[in-house]
Amino acid sequence: MGKVITNVLDLRELARRRVPRAFFEYADRGSYDEITLRDNRAALEKIRLRQRVMLDVDQRNLATTLLGTPASMPLAIAPTGLTGLQWGSGEILGARAAAAAGIPFCLSTMSICSIEQVRAAVATPFWFQLYVMRDRGFVRALIERAKAAHCSALMLTADLQIQGQRHREIKNGLTVPPRLTLRNFFDIASKPMWAWRVLRAPSRSFGNLAGQISGADSLLTLAQWIAQQFDPTLSWRDLDWIREQWGGKLIIKGILDRDDAAIAARAGVDAIVVSNHGGRQLDGAPASIHALPRVVDAVRGDTEVLFDGGILSGQSLLKALALGARGGLIGKAFLYGLGARGEAGVAQVIEIIRKELAVSLALTGQTDVQRVTRECLLDERGGPY
Ligand SMILES: Cc1cc2nc3c(=O)[nH]c(=O)nc-3n(C[C@H](O)[C@H](O)[C@H](O)COP(=O)(O)O)c2cc1C
Repeated sequence: MGKVITNVLDLRELARRRVPRAFFEYADRGSYDEITLRDNRAALEKIRLRQRVMLDVDQRNLATTLLGTPASMPLAIAPTGLTGLQWGSGEILGARAAAAAGIPFCLSTMSICSIEQVRAAVATPFWFQLYVMRDRGFVRALIERAKAAHCSALMLTADLQIQGQRHREIKNGLTVPPRLTLRNFFDIASKPMWAWRVLRAPSRSFGNLAGQISGADSLLTLAQWIAQQFDPTLSWRDLDWIREQWGGKLIIKGILDRDDAAIAARAGVDAIVVSNHGGRQLDGAPASIHALPRVVDAVRGDTEVLFDGGILSGQSLLKALALGARGGLIGKAFLYGLGARGEAGVAQVIEIIRKELAVSLALTGQTDVQRVTRECLLDERGGPY
């Protein structure tokens, strides 16, 4: 028997041993000097929780609604690319674990399993994340496919029209589909269970793009491919067109600035995600948790505010709720669970965070995730936050 798993970082360690290095580091690392990556977590850790006692916290409510739909807790799975290369059919397993736990799952444009494959395997509707490509005919078709699959929200990612460089991807020679080279031969050969699962999966390349967009099947590197396909002209002017094509609930992800937040709220989107892409884009951007209260002020309740960046525990999630987020998304925490133990690992991550949130809520003297306020936070020295 392996080590007893008690928190998300234990699952990270297991994933590190089970997933070939190029894919583990793709999930784990950030852009350039990784300042923002480190800050996301460090800034959350610096916030202190205010212990309160003798308040009868026996009955607690973790349930909420996200975009008007009931969720068993204020958590969702963030869209992540290449998820099916952390564990074969990873997107399907993630969607299943999320559905079983009663929280939303968001499928990435850059997923390995296609929209249709996930839809066929999981009855519960999921969200679809959209990257806008230069080929708008393809974008329109992608939105149509998301509609046909009954996706319950479209999440437009705004912060990756140009890719921030991730040194590890270059050093590891990351390609999709994985190519056997001398450099990664021993790595892949030493992870036969991983290879077996990935080879058995219905797809090993970009499921949503293969055969639909030129060059999707034969890419050199991820970064080169993104530079070719993603549309850097994306602007607020495109929002109406996207909304017209989609017609359903719309989320904008990648908002960090109060001015951008105010524009998004005025544009009437259903939610925004305060995010710096998990420290994978603009290195030097502020920690997501520092941006959150400013964004919350700027939107004045006109749109739901979701949060991601650095959530690895229920304590961190509680801090985001206290600063005005309606819910938190997990990217890396989800991938650690998946890479460690597949569907069971994702379920475990969600349960770990759920229990941590329930306990931290109680120890801060609170009973309802929907009524958490800044009052439960303190600064690093225990003074008012
Ligand atoms: C490996 C990986 C791949 C990602 N791929 C996408 C993607 O395809 N689309 C997207 O909008 N965000 C993507 N993200 C960003 C996540 O949706 C989310 O914003 C971020 O992971 C949150 O930070 P956290 O990892 O600290 O939880 C990715 C993140 C990671 C770690």
